[in-house]
Amino acid sequence: MSDNPTDYAFGMIGLGTMGRNMLLNMADHGFAVAGYDKNQKQVDLLGQEGQGKPVKGFTDPKAFVQSIKTPRAIMMLVPAGPIVDSVIAEMLPLLAAGDILIDGGNSHFTDTERRAKDLAGKGFHFFGMGVSGGEEGARFGPSMMPGGDKEAYQTMKPVFEAIAAHVDGAPCVAWLGPGAAGHFVKMVHNGIEYGLMELIAETYGLLKNGLGMADEAIGQEFAKWNDGRLQSFLLDITKDIFAFKNPDGDGTLLLNDIKDEARAKGTGKWTSQVAMDLQAPIPTVDAAVSMRDLSKYKDLRVELAKLYGPEAGHLQGDKNELLKQLEQAFYFSMIMSYAQGMHLLAKASEEYKYDLQLATIAKIWRGGCIIRSAFLNEIYNAFEKDNNLAHLLLDSKVQELTQSSAPGMRAVVAAAVAAGQAVPAYASALSYFDAFRTARLPSNLIQAQRDYFGAHTYELVGQEGVFHTQWTGKRSHPDAPAGPAANLKPNTPPVPNTKQSEDPSKAKL
Ligand code: 6PG
Repeated sequence: MSDNPTDYAFGMIGLGTMGRNMLLNMADHGFAVAGYDKNQKQVDLLGQEGQGKPVKGFTDPKAFVQSIKTPRAIMMLVPAGPIVDSVIAEMLPLLAAGDILIDGGNSHFTDTERRAKDLAGKGFHFFGMGVSGGEEGARFGPSMMPGGDKEAYQTMKPVFEAIAAHVDGAPCVAWLGPGAAGHFVKMVHNGIEYGLMELIAETYGLLKNGLGMADEAIGQEFAKWNDGRLQSFLLDITKDIFAFKNPDGDGTLLLNDIKDEARAKGTGKWTSQVAMDLQAPIPTVDAAVSMRDLSKYKDLRVELAKLYGPEAGHLQGDKNELLKQLEQAFYFSMIMSYAQGMHLLAKASEEYKYDLQLATIAKIWRGGCIIRSAFLNEIYNAFEKDNNLAHLLLDSKVQELTQSSAPGMRAVVAAAVAAGQAVPAYASALSYFDAFRTARLPSNLIQAQRDYFGAHTYELVGQEGVFHTQWTGKRSHPDAPAGPAANLKPNTPPVPNTKQSEDPSKAKL
């Protein structure tokens, strides 16, 4: 490719697997693109892979920047964290006001909010964009979740819509909202991904240890599921993993030689953390994050297995019936995983004013990304019908799918628990459902306990205001009246040294 200094329409910083493959994807769609990496080997790799394509790699940042048409559009695909800030600091002096900088990594949304504000103040356009689909997605069609500077996205739209995965002719990319909306949505995507991966792992455990199935039969079961309503990228790769023999030709699966200690880069944990902050329960994602952590305690697990063995037993019941129930249980739990993620997105949209369109998110998740699945069409339809749907489970079609798969869910959790098989994600999905369909929870007792030991007050059904009770004859407050407890009703003159506020969390008694 010529070295004419303004030949390239787009630049990529970071020529790792994702960066190189996105550039090759762009080149396949007719865009002349430049790449930059300090590591000569990565630049050489790009040269080899991009032979005959309008692609050029640089190790010199200045030459890289100068090769890109202005206003420049440059994307960073580097590990989340301080590296992103140091790359920005290195590139800024080389860029001109009006240039566009895109962070395509899995940055934490609060970092993206900060960077967007900082760079806008310096005259640059910046936006965070989640990119999902791994190496294959980057090369042949990812799902992309941009947010933030809408004007800058409009400039990039033709490139990203060209390289995105397409479903029913629609590109799996759309501007999702202001600020860090894109990175927030990607984070939740990853949280759902963790939940689905844990559910598949627990299914594997039930098939192998609960039903005593051989690896080949397990792989066939996953393949069968993937041919039906459970069709998904994760099941698709799982069936392949069950077909992948050890390279040394002994006929065994590579899977059986892989350590059972799961790792994580952290996006699932972030999802759980933010969900707690927003008080949006996502117990199946939480269970998945915890199980990745628990799996790391290998020595302790081996020790406890000796103390509390024997290993979990077989599931009781007819095997074919249990397999049918397990398919239902997985479908049910998959619904709960997505429902939890969508509810979190709705809460975040309110809190952070992202104005998220949940139908659009479901639509661009139907292809290219790790959590793509047939069920996403149901989610898309549900929110397309009503974007203000407060919860996915309120949709009539989803209600029907949930209720019809609930019997299998209950049977599987019951059988697994009875056999001592660990199914935290399955169990959490079922209890999430049962709790949300319980009009009166036993949480009133928690309120009474909190008021008993901490005078944290409580509210009464059908009455305004907050109340406190002296639950015992003992005087819990030096100035409180002795004797039977008096409920602190609204407008009751406060007991000396106390004050009452409408907000129960503020009443000091
Ligand atoms: C994707 C993936 C990707 C993520 C990997 C590893 O959407 O393509 O989610 O972004 O980095 O899944 O994530 P963990 O190491 O946290 O499992």
